[in-house]
Amino acid sequence: MDFELKTFDLADACRQKCDALVALVTEDASGGADPVSRLAQDARKSGDFEPKPGKLLQAWRVDGVAAKRVVIAGAGDGSGKRVQAAVQAAVGALRTKGVKRLLIALPADAGDEAVRAAVTATAETSYVYVATKSKPEGRELERVTIAVPASVTAHRQAFDAARGTAVGIEFARELGNLPPNLATPTRLGEEAKKLAKAQGFRCEVLGPKEVEKLGMGSFMAVARGSEEPLRFIVLQYRGAADSQAPVVLVGKGITFDSGGISIKPAPEMDEMKFDMSGAASVLGTFRALGELKPKLNVVGIIPACENLPDGRAMKPGDVITSMSGQTIEVLNTDAEGRLILCDALTYAERFKPRAVVDIATLTGACVIALGGVRSGMFSSDDALARALQDAGDAAFDLCWRMPLDDEYAEGLKTNFADVANVGGRPAGSVTAAKFLQRFAGKYPWAHLDIAGTAWKGGGAKGSTGRPVGLLVQYLLSQQDSAAAAKAPRRKAAAAR
Ligand code: BES
Ligand code: MN
Ligand code: ZN
Repeated sequence: MDFELKTFDLADACRQKCDALVALVTEDASGGADPVSRLAQDARKSGDFEPKPGKLLQAWRVDGVAAKRVVIAGAGDGSGKRVQAAVQAAVGALRTKGVKRLLIALPADAGDEAVRAAVTATAETSYVYVATKSKPEGRELERVTIAVPASVTAHRQAFDAARGTAVGIEFARELGNLPPNLATPTRLGEEAKKLAKAQGFRCEVLGPKEVEKLGMGSFMAVARGSEEPLRFIVLQYRGAADSQAPVVLVGKGITFDSGGISIKPAPEMDEMKFDMSGAASVLGTFRALGELKPKLNVVGIIPACENLPDGRAMKPGDVITSMSGQTIEVLNTDAEGRLILCDALTYAERFKPRAVVDIATLTGACVIALGGVRSGMFSSDDALARALQDAGDAAFDLCWRMPLDDEYAEGLKTNFADVANVGGRPAGSVTAAKFLQRFAGKYPWAHLDIAGTAWKGGGAKGSTGRPVGLLVQYLLSQQDSAAAAKAPRRKAAAAR
């Protein structure tokens, strides 16, 4: 699907030949003399349309409009959030109607936020999964024109960023949705290699032997119950000088989480194919980096394996030794995410990162705490936490900061190792983060628990591609500060 940005007011938009015209109407729209504005005003007067977000008025062959279908969509106050809701509703209503060419006319006072929201919401709503259907009927949309009344140059940057982000989000969704017999650790490694080749990234994919040499006893313990060989994926994007410290993204890549010996109940266990969503979000973010080529360095690290029960699987009570040297008592084999992430966090030290962000479908407790609206965000660094929160707001991919008080780590104490892999049930997402924090002391660190946001269950079951939007926005925001962060450090070194 192609996006283009054009300068059109609603009168121009009415003259464009396309399969459907979506016109966003705000509450304070003054109302022009073009046919669509008149229709909206008439319908408002008679009580058939309200410009509230999500409200639609659908029409067919309107006099003076070149497009066959017209959807007037209420956009409330015209903010990004309202535009997102309006576009979701309108594009949703046009699905399966054979619309290939779509024009979306934004309100007169649309800002960058509205442009970003229109692009990402269109991509999101029109996505169709086909990878494992025998009669694939994919996305109908081929060309989408976003029309802004003001000059396009003002919105070009926001538009391009949104378009690149949408590609990354879709890449993550597609991987997330693949069944676990296809999306194996090996496949994730191959996808990373393919991506690296196409986009010019550096990429290394390590197997069991190399991981053993690195001393990743914790990661290896999780993989032990599976016939699928583990993979440890390292991707490197270079958009700035080598001397510039990279941001490192670490993604949980459990391609299926049965719980292991501490096996999960059968209902909804299929959803544990989404337990590699953190990994998918790292790959999706790299896909977007390839499109956007920002001026900074980024490393992606993905530990990938299955968590299955087997005669050789790790058991409750086992004590394992992590790459950091810390010993871990496994009290619940279903708390496996932290066991693969801790070794990846130790590995990240070698990049002398300016920040490390791990992304993981880590705890059911986070779903209970925040649901599917906001990802849980934990950070040892206030500036990093603020940057992630702001990025999430700007990308309509929200997160919420959670606490890391040391008292929450009490439950992780054990008589038989340095730390246990589970605390009690209270504040389960926080104790998981406290566990990870023990391995992330050498750099500014943040952890995103995306257990509630990475996929939807029920009838709309499927990957959301979150938090690729947040991550890309965060990385784009770091371009200037990446260069700035380098300068004072050099000065300090010279002064010594
Ligand atoms: N992948 C799960 C987390 C999860 C559970 C995500 C449900 C989405 C929905 C993770 O590996 C897990 O099993 N966590 C356990 C931890 C517990 C044993 C301390 C959990 O949340 O139940
Ligand atoms: Mn688990
Ligand atoms: Zn898991």
